[in-house]
Amino acid sequence: MEYTTLGRTGIRVSVAGLGCGGFSRLGLGTGKSESEAIALVGAALDEGVTLFDTAAAYVTESVLGKAVKTVARDRIVLCTKAPFGISHPNASPEAAIAGLDASLRRLDTDYIDVYQLHGVAPASYDHARNVIAPALLREQAKGKFRHLGITETAPNDTGHAMLERAVRDGIWDVVMVGFHMMHQNARARVFPLTREQRVGTLLMFAVRNIFSRPDRLAATLRELAAAGQVPPALAQSPDPLGFLVRDGGASSVIDAAYRFVRHEPGVDVVLFGTGDRDHLRANLASILKPPLPQDDQSRLASLFGHLVGVGLDAPHLTPPRPPAA
Ligand SMILES: NC(=O)c1ccc[n+]([C@@H]2O[C@H](COP(=O)([O-])OP(=O)(O)OC[C@H]3O[C@@H](n4cnc5c(N)ncnc54)[C@H](OP(=O)(O)O)[C@@H]3O)[C@@H](O)[C@H]2O)c1
Repeated sequence: MEYTTLGRTGIRVSVAGLGCGGFSRLGLGTGKSESEAIALVGAALDEGVTLFDTAAAYVTESVLGKAVKTVARDRIVLCTKAPFGISHPNASPEAAIAGLDASLRRLDTDYIDVYQLHGVAPASYDHARNVIAPALLREQAKGKFRHLGITETAPNDTGHAMLERAVRDGIWDVVMVGFHMMHQNARARVFPLTREQRVGTLLMFAVRNIFSRPDRLAATLRELAAAGQVPPALAQSPDPLGFLVRDGGASSVIDAAYRFVRHEPGVDVVLFGTGDRDHLRANLASILKPPLPQDDQSRLASLFGHLVGVGLDAPHLTPPRPPAA
């Protein structure tokens, strides 16, 4: 494993972070058992992963808490998220504090390393900034969490409008941003700001469905070609991103997708989501490989650099009931 510093938090973290949400939810989203999910987290720990990202809405906080119980608390970095944003955009400060306390209980820990407001839309940002954040910062002062973070709702904020404001506000030490081979606009809109402000960045959506399901990629490219947004040849090819997979290049489209985001200046931690131990090992190997060859990076920029909001599908999570205030 390789380690880096999570922006101005100063926390040392693995460059690969295990995401406990997405479609996999440590495997719980695809029918695996709690003991299999615990074993998956154990395999990640064995490989040197130290950062884990969960959320109240993923319903994986308890299983993550159990899975890391054998590890010294200061050797891991636990990130979780408030029931806010899309699910509870008008949450009261009291409910936010109750949500924080509930996450601490479910994770079975004394403190959270990064407590994030989850999926905050541009229209909800003022409420997050002016009402929720001050209440949470008072709880931070009591030691309940170390750093405040915020995550965008990538499918509903494809231009990163919320993060463009948040990064400048100085209260969010960590942000989570969507960026991948066919949704590259964070390169111009977010990373210059996070680098300037030394805000820690967690990267989401590296692979998602678009690069893990060939049928989804092919259908998307057909739609984009019909709309005149990509060359028609990409819609006709049975293996449209096959040019990336070659000697000296990537070993698969998924390998290319993780390597593409990993080496982007401004990306601290690449989150990857899986419920499969073989995928876990393969993804860590990809994240630790060198950048894609320069000609492939240039081709991805020229083919897809103008696309916005492609492949940002969201699972239909059932958020937990809001905690009693
Ligand atoms: N707004 C937010 O706050 C927000 C939104 C989205 C995501 N996130 C965070 O970001 C994390 C990562 O997102 P994500 O879960 O979508 O991760 P991802 O790594 O972009 O995509 C994971 C998907 O690809 C599949 N996959 C992964 N590796 C594979 C491999 N080697 N071969 C074949 N299929 C593979 C997984 O299925 P398998 O289980 O079969 O491997 C899963 O369906 C989430 O868990 C969450 O922590 C946050």
